[in-house]
Amino acid sequence: MEELQGSGQALAAARFVAVNSIHCEPEYVGRFEELFSSRARAIDDMEGFLGVRVLKPTREGDPYLVVSFWTDGSAFERWVGSEAFRRGHQRAFADMEEAKARGERPPMHSSFSTYTVLAD
Ligand code: HEM
Repeated sequence: MEELQGSGQALAAARFVAVNSIHCEPEYVGRFEELFSSRARAIDDMEGFLGVRVLKPTREGDPYLVVSFWTDGSAFERWVGSEAFRRGHQRAFADMEEAKARGERPPMHSSFSTYTVLAD
């Protein structure tokens, strides 16, 4: 399965999709994109994880979308509760904490929704 990770073929097997939607402050966009271009990849070895696509909006003001593909919902929930989730977000969460400590507004806002696949 290794060679299929993140490929279209692996994603086609997904039955559960988690979408994290992130609004970035304009001055944080460069740092945000740099974080994702060097992401921890701690998620990549999680059982049931099939791949992720990080989508950059083409229209100014729309959110970035982090779309992760899973075999099922319990695999996603195991990741959210895991050390890999914490490791994969270490720098992002540190940036949020530091902004808070400086009394600044958060550099990004995030909310997520989960989906099952209705049709291919
Ligand atoms: C306050 C909540 C969250 C914020 C601000 C946030 C933001 C970020 C940022 C900036 C990164 C880049 C990695 C880094 O830190 O260096 C990241 C990684 C990631 N995020 Fe989030 N995220 C949040 C919660 C979530 C949730 C709930 C999901 C799924 C629904 C998600 C999915 C992912 C994935 C798949 C990665 C890649 C992890 C890895 O490579 O191991 N994030 N996130």
